[in-house]
Amino acid sequence: MDLIKKNSLDELCPHPIVLAPMVGLTHYAVRAAIAEFLPAGARALWPTEMLNSRRLHMQKENQNPELTFKDKANGLCPQILGNEEQYIRSSIKKLTEWGAVAIDINMGCPVNRALKHNYGVALMGDPKYAAEVTSMAVRNSALPVSVKLRAGLGGTDEGFLFDFVQGIFEAGAAWVTLHPRTAEQKRKGSADWNLIRKLKQKLNRPIIGNGDVQCTEDIQVMKEETGCDRVMIGRALIAKPWLVWGDDVDPDPTVQGELYGKYLLRVLDFVEAEYEEGAGMRRMRFLVVQSKPWVEFGETLYGKLFKAKNYAETRAELLKFFSQSQRMVKRTTLRA
Ligand SMILES: Cc1cc2nc3c(=O)[nH]c(=O)nc-3n(C[C@H](O)[C@H](O)[C@H](O)COP(=O)(O)O)c2cc1C
Repeated sequence: MDLIKKNSLDELCPHPIVLAPMVGLTHYAVRAAIAEFLPAGARALWPTEMLNSRRLHMQKENQNPELTFKDKANGLCPQILGNEEQYIRSSIKKLTEWGAVAIDINMGCPVNRALKHNYGVALMGDPKYAAEVTSMAVRNSALPVSVKLRAGLGGTDEGFLFDFVQGIFEAGAAWVTLHPRTAEQKRKGSADWNLIRKLKQKLNRPIIGNGDVQCTEDIQVMKEETGCDRVMIGRALIAKPWLVWGDDVDPDPTVQGELYGKYLLRVLDFVEAEYEEGAGMRRMRFLVVQSKPWVEFGETLYGKLFKAKNYAETRAELLKFFSQSQRMVKRTTLRA
């Protein structure tokens, strides 16, 4: 057990780029399609959507897209929402049996449903309690436990953030991911990368930086400016899967359009093979809603997919749209 616990971020995830956990987006089909862009032999960690620890004990592997882990061999780091030991214990036990290699605790979700139950970003309101929740996970896990958090609840207080994260590490977290926006900001405004730099300098522990990376240049800048151990990318990575290469040059805009089209078709292959059609269609549409801001005629694409009634029509529309050259943009206004 101790041997497994010693696995660090470096051992589990030598690759510099990781996908961010996102509800409705980081399900198996998207993870598997992005993983195909990884350089040969590269090993990263792959997040699930946030999974509610109060429900997990009643659920079965593969019962829905959220719980489909056909890509577990790639290195799965499921994210749980929770604050009660009995549920955290049973969830981690199940996820470990299902093949997880690490467990992430969500301390960043600002939606009311999470706040009402006092987990997600609500845990950032009480550093002692958050450290206790981390300890609960660590003592019930043979796998490394990480925490994903925000800059705070309301205005940023650096001293508070450093002490909070220090407490999380003292409770046994193996690494921390910082999305440097406050809960109040939700996804508005911009992520303050200075906080990632300061946190790394102050604590010198493994820190994953996250927030607003949209192109390869942003990856380099985040790495250089913050010294973070890994760069986590959410919205842009599900639109531009080649960002997972971590290279320093973006492909040409039309090559990007071509890659994006091929990738959507791959996601559809995985969706069609594993998900019931209604659930699969909803996820395909949501993927296009979230990725279309980077595509020049993304609205047109979405309009076509919205009308498609089944997988066959979705595939036909994708093939038609991408039979013509499409272009993608370097940066867009990120959706709040
Ligand atoms: C649709 C959507 C769903 C999200 N769901 C989660 C989630 O389940 N857990 C989590 O920690 N963060 C979640 N996030 C936040 C992302 O993980 C990430 O921190 C945020 O989008 C900033 O990174 P980005 O600018 O690279 O997208 C979500 C974001 C989006 C857009």
